[in-house]
Amino acid sequence: MNKPFKQHLIDPEICIRCYTCEMTCPENAIEHDDTNVVVNAETCNLCMACIPVCPTGSIDEWRVVESRDAAYSLEDQYSWDELPEQAEIAAGSDTDHMEAMDEAVAALLADAHKGAGGKAKAPATAAKPSINLYTAGKPAVAKVVGNYALTRDPEHDVRHIILDFGGQPMPVLEGQSIGIIPPGTDAAGKPHLPRLYSVSSPRDGERPNYNNLSLTVKREAGGVASNYLCDLEKGAEVSVTGPFGATFLMPDDPNARLLMICTGTGSAPMRAFTMRRQRTLGAASGGMVMFFGARTPDSLPYFGPLKKVPETLLRSHLSFSREAGKPKEYVQDRIRAEEEQVADLLADPNTHVYVCGLRGMEEGIEAAFTSIAESMGESWSALRDVMRSEGRYHVETY
Ligand code: A2P
Repeated sequence: MNKPFKQHLIDPEICIRCYTCEMTCPENAIEHDDTNVVVNAETCNLCMACIPVCPTGSIDEWRVVESRDAAYSLEDQYSWDELPEQAEIAAGSDTDHMEAMDEAVAALLADAHKGAGGKAKAPATAAKPSINLYTAGKPAVAKVVGNYALTRDPEHDVRHIILDFGGQPMPVLEGQSIGIIPPGTDAAGKPHLPRLYSVSSPRDGERPNYNNLSLTVKREAGGVASNYLCDLEKGAEVSVTGPFGATFLMPDDPNARLLMICTGTGSAPMRAFTMRRQRTLGAASGGMVMFFGARTPDSLPYFGPLKKVPETLLRSHLSFSREAGKPKEYVQDRIRAEEEQVADLLADPNTHVYVCGLRGMEEGIEAAFTSIAESMGESWSALRDVMRSEGRYHVETY
C-alpha cells in the first residue's frame, strides 16, 4: 500500500545559498543549480544532519505527499520561487503512520535545535526583501570603490570593502547577505561556489543614495574568498550573487527595541541596523542595546565610529577576550553582568533579539538567557519560542 510520505524540502525564499547543508549531507542527497538548493527524495534518509548547520532555518521544511513516488522531483524544486502550499491528502491516508512520522521528525528537530537556532521568521513590520536577483550563472558585476583596514592587528586583518553596482539594481535590506564568486576554479576544476557575506551598510547605500554597499571581511588563513576580497584594489570588478536572506531583518517600527549580540565580523548586520536608525531617527532614542565581543579594542571592527554613535541611539557593551592585563570576557559574561537591563528587554514584547557571529557563542548566550529568564520567573525556551514565532528572535552563526 502507498503510504503518505513526509518530504524534506528547502524554502527557496529564505535559503541564503551557503551550501552548508549540501556539504554536510552524508547521503549526498542535497544539490544545487544556479538558482535553488534542493533535496533528492529518493536518497534523503531524514538523518537530520543538515538541520542544525543551516543558518536560516530554510532547511526545516516538510510537505506531506500521497506517497514516496509522488514526491516533488528535483526539476520541480529547481523551478520554484517559493514553496508550494501543503496539498490536501486523500481521505483514507494512513494517519497512524503519519502521526508516527510527525513525532519522529519533531523529536529529531527538537534535538537539532537545542541551541539558539531554529526556524526563523521575519519581524512583522520588516520591509519585503528582494531575493536571488543574481545567480552564479548570471551574477551582477560590482566595482570596488573602497577597501579599508578596520583593525590595527596585522595578525587579524578585517576590512571594510565598498562595492558599487552602477546601473544594476541591487536592493539590499539591512541583515541581508550577498554572495561573492572568487575567480578561478577549485581543486576539482569547477568554478568556485559563491561565498556569503552579510552586508554592513543600510538600504540606501554605504554612501546615501548611491547604488553601493559595504562588506566586513576577515582574512582567513587559506580562505579563497576572504583573501581574494581583502586584496582587492580599487576599480577591480567582482561577481556578485543574491541578495539572500528573508528573516534576519529589522522591524520597520521606530519604537521596536533591538538587543544585538555579536562577535567579530558578526557586527556587520548590527552596523547596518544602527546606521539605518541613525539615518532615519537621528539621535532620537532608538532603544538599541549591543553586546559586542572581540579580542582587543584594536581588533574590534568599527571601534572608532562606534564610539561616536550617541548613547541615546545605541548603548554598547564591549567585551574583550585578549586584552593585556585584563580577565577574558565574552559577550555572554557581559550579558550576565547586565542582567537587569537584559531582563527588562526580554520582558518587553517590543524587543527584537539578533545574534550574529561565532557559532560557539550560542551555547553561552543560551545559558545566560536561561538564567536571566529564571530570575524573571520565566522559562527561556518558552519565551524564545514566543519571540521566534513573532519574528522577534534571529540567529545567524557560522
Ligand atoms: P577568543 O578567540 O579570544 O577566545 P574574532 O572573530 O575577531 O576573532 O572575534 C571573535 C571573538 O569571539 C573573540 O573575542 C573570541 O575570543 C570570542 N569567542 C570565541 N569563542 C567564543 C564563545 N564560545 N562564546 C563567545 N565568544 C567567543
